[in-house]
Amino acid sequence: RAPEAIAGALLTWFDAHGRHDLPWQHPRTAYRVWVAEVMLQQTQVATVIGYFNAFMAHFPDVHTLAAASNDDVMAHWAGLGYYARARNLHAAAKAIVAEYAGEFPRTVDELMALPGIGRSTAGAIAAQAFGVWAPILDGNAKRVIARLAALEAKPGTSAYEKPLWQLAERYTPRVRVIDYTQAIMDLGATLCTRSRPDCERCPLADRCHAYANGSQTRIPAPRKR
Ligand code: ADE
Repeated sequence: RAPEAIAGALLTWFDAHGRHDLPWQHPRTAYRVWVAEVMLQQTQVATVIGYFNAFMAHFPDVHTLAAASNDDVMAHWAGLGYYARARNLHAAAKAIVAEYAGEFPRTVDELMALPGIGRSTAGAIAAQAFGVWAPILDGNAKRVIARLAALEAKPGTSAYEKPLWQLAERYTPRVRVIDYTQAIMDLGATLCTRSRPDCERCPLADRCHAYANGSQTRIPAPRKR
């Protein structure tokens, strides 16, 4: 499957059906994309929007966040849960001010060196805030790509994660990386959902190995708990 054809079909779908009005898209600054991506690590978009807007009203830029007290940051995270994210966010804000004079670094490696920013979040910030070519692989993108490749390996194993990152790199186009990144997350969130994928409407159905062999609801395999 030519990777350009996958990106092209996804982008055409995104123009008509993707999400173009998320608050962190307008304006799309590194600070706003970063805070949104950290909130979205464990919380759904519909819930994040209200918290995001309130957080931005109170901490409009990285300097304000860095200078805030721990209690103030925690109070504005209350309700989102997974409080390690808020502690890391605060620590990263201080590091961005101290080490980068408040200007976000643009490379995935530098972004990943900051607290609470993993490989996918670093890719999302590089791509969405700066238009830098970088693959992302959040939960939604993982499911989309695992199905495209009919990857049967168990989530959490390197037999699953390694090929997914390779494919994520291969599919990420050199053009329109901001839109592509949002598009693959949107496809996973809206059509290529965990239990009821809407393959009839999917722009990638004719290139999807899971759809071709009917394995889309078995992939990704459930995590053992
Ligand atoms: N999940 C993680 N990042 C996201 C984004 N930018 N838009 C929608 N869902 C997401």
